[in-house]
Amino acid sequence: MIDSSEPFVIIAIDGGAATGKSTTAGAVSARFHLLHVDTGAFYRTITLALLEAGVSPCDAAAVARALPGLAITTGARGRRAVMELNGGDPAARLREPRVNENVSHFAALDEVRDFLLEYQRGQADVALEHGFRGLVMEGRDIGSVIFPDADFRFFLQAEESERTRRRALQGETDEIGKRDAMDAGRKSAPLICPPGAMTINTTALSLDEVVETISREVETRLPRACSA
Ligand code: DC
Repeated sequence: MIDSSEPFVIIAIDGGAATGKSTTAGAVSARFHLLHVDTGAFYRTITLALLEAGVSPCDAAAVARALPGLAITTGARGRRAVMELNGGDPAARLREPRVNENVSHFAALDEVRDFLLEYQRGQADVALEHGFRGLVMEGRDIGSVIFPDADFRFFLQAEESERTRRRALQGETDEIGKRDAMDAGRKSAPLICPPGAMTINTTALSLDEVVETISREVETRLPRACSA
């Protein structure tokens, strides 16, 4: 139930691959009853759909032609925002090696970024419709482009060796350094620390410590929804 005296809060969490964004955003969403929006999953879903349609990231014109025809809808599973593909949740397939290898190439295309811009901003309406007190959105350009006026902006960092270790523990093959270099080097909406964001180096921190750091800031505006 939304208390109408409470503000609707938007939290932006940006950072490179495997810096801890998803786990942190999930825990913060539980604490404050916020919709958790993983925009990396949106880019991955588009990547999966385009690869399945036989479209290459080297052919921007083919990408532009294919995007409007993708069978994409919007949903929420628990606190998680889901970009559905063909009516289902593609989560289990979004970390396949072919998606890891291609996602930064598709994400560098203006056609893809423009397609996702309003979809991402529209998640605020999804959060309201589902009775959330706001949203916590993670990605690369959330505090800089999608919600530059977000109430809170955080930028997570971690040493590459630690990030590689985390991915290996998850059983994933992912060239983190290469993806980060592409994401930071692209022309449109590159991975940057948004001006005014609080930087948190997660290399030596536990999940609880990162979540506490963020929660202390958020509590200045919004009381916790639970003790998690
Ligand atoms: O967070 P992730 O590793 O699942 O993101 C996958 C890719 O999607 C990432 O390499 C770059 C792209 N991405 C982006 O360009 N902008 C975002 N807001 C989120 C992800």
